[in-house]
Amino acid sequence: MRILAVSGSLRESSHNTSLLRAAIEAAPEGIELELWEGLGDLPIYDEDLEHDVPESARRLREDWAAADAILFSTPEYNGSVPGGLKNAIDWASRPRLEGVLRNKTVAVVGASTGRFGALWAQQDLKRILGIAGARVVGTEIPVPRAHERFDYEGRLLDGEVFAQLRLHLTTLASEAVAASERVAA
Ligand SMILES: Cc1cc2nc3c(=O)[nH]c(=O)nc-3n(C[C@H](O)[C@H](O)[C@H](O)COP(=O)(O)O)c2cc1C
Repeated sequence: MRILAVSGSLRESSHNTSLLRAAIEAAPEGIELELWEGLGDLPIYDEDLEHDVPESARRLREDWAAADAILFSTPEYNGSVPGGLKNAIDWASRPRLEGVLRNKTVAVVGASTGRFGALWAQQDLKRILGIAGARVVGTEIPVPRAHERFDYEGRLLDGEVFAQLRLHLTTLASEAVAASERVAA
């Protein structure tokens, strides 16, 4: 089971990227989690570019298509998903009806320095992914006051969040297996 981990933040010391690094450690046996980096290389989505898809978007489509499932970690920017993450999803959602998110099993988590742990961003992200055709599983995992939950090297200090990540990955993986079995049947 190969799960791609996509952080919605480009920031070097991003709490969301740290959260995904914690998820890599929390992954139960048999689940291999890999960080996907490429968000910052994408041009702003433009339908005219579909005639000659830029290399960065082509790579996104190939990488996301090859994953058994995708785990997104989103910060909250002004009450919603950062533009760069929305842009990546726009690229992944086209061509219409053939986008790589179609029937892809996905889950979300999120961290913010505020009190609500990017809850609104996660709710919006789930809605956006659903519209793009993904099978969104699990609930949100809000990590509030993120600056207090990681050490100076970005290691997660919160055992409860670690356990939540592990459970989340178990759900995501089993839903992805169930979906692929339904397709094979
Ligand atoms: C443009 C911008 C808007 C933000 N808006 C919110 C917000 O609406 N709610 C919130 O909880 N935090 C907000 N924040 C704070 C982010 O949660 C915080 O910077 C967080 O650490 C970003 O995630 P990262 O560490 O993964 O980069 C905002 C930050 C930026 C830069």
